[in-house]
Amino acid sequence: MPLQQNVSSFNGLRSCGLLEAEAAVGLSFDCRCSHIPCVLLFGTDVVNSERRFFTKWKGCAILSQEANREEVSRMRLRNITGSREVIAESRFVIQEEIQPQCPGTWKEIFRNDRPIHIEIGMGKGKFIHAMAKQNPHINYVGIEKYSSVLLRALQKMELEELPNLKFLRMDAEDITKVFGAGEVDRIYLNFSDPWPKDRHAKRRLPSREFLARYNIILKKGGKLEFKTDNRPLFDFAVEELEPAGWKAEVITYDLHADEKLVEGNVMTEYEEKFSSMGNPICKYIIYR
Ligand SMILES: C[S@@+](CC[C@H](N)C(=O)[O-])C[C@H]1O[C@@H](n2cnc3c(N)ncnc32)[C@H](O)[C@@H]1O
Repeated sequence: MPLQQNVSSFNGLRSCGLLEAEAAVGLSFDCRCSHIPCVLLFGTDVVNSERRFFTKWKGCAILSQEANREEVSRMRLRNITGSREVIAESRFVIQEEIQPQCPGTWKEIFRNDRPIHIEIGMGKGKFIHAMAKQNPHINYVGIEKYSSVLLRALQKMELEELPNLKFLRMDAEDITKVFGAGEVDRIYLNFSDPWPKDRHAKRRLPSREFLARYNIILKKGGKLEFKTDNRPLFDFAVEELEPAGWKAEVITYDLHADEKLVEGNVMTEYEEKFSSMGNPICKYIIYR
């Protein structure tokens, strides 16, 4: 039986799309990923002042009864303070407490023995979602440090669920703790943060320190692809190859001008933004 709730006890109604609440009941709602306790609210819509029902769960997100799925996802993301809860309940995410058990078990996680490709620092996940859709015979893992950013990738999965795509919220410094030796077939780094100060060079994802980590998890013969519009970062990345024991199969300083290399290129969010500003995109493909 639903429980009557005190309407005044709900904070942040506006961020949930409600101007004011008139009535509320507690109920349990199956939101596909798990059984989540939530509250049914009746009130006035912020956007068009219509009176309607909303559901609000774990104090962070709402589902409108009339809303389409896109609106639902957008509204969920609006309250970033709830991002950790949304991630903790997402079946698309390998949860942090499970991560130590992951090395050597990725084939079980995906329930098949298809190759595993990962994107480190995937941001909002446009690239990896498109890649997973295009290549159902490959398993993809998107890695992102920040919950609020990972949420955007989850939103894409809610709109279009793909069985061959999973996510990890983690710092890639710990990448060898979630993938076993040689478990990964391909690594993508796209528009990695430049960390321009020399003393932060170790934090750059194509640095020799990170290459040493990739060396462990990447299968023999596996490749790493890196794209960026940041020329100093790209030059740094190229200089790191030899001391780290990697070789370049492809290097271009203007990917979009190279008819052959650009064929099948999937643009990332940053790539769309910076190439539309006229910045040339650098790319390498490397191996050991
Ligand atoms: C500049 S954005 C690029 C996003 C996306 N790859 C694109 O091309 O549109 C870099 C992303 O990498 C993430 N990132 C940076 N360092 C990371 C690390 N050590 N581990 C995981 N993610 C990281 C950042 O949080 C950010 O979302």
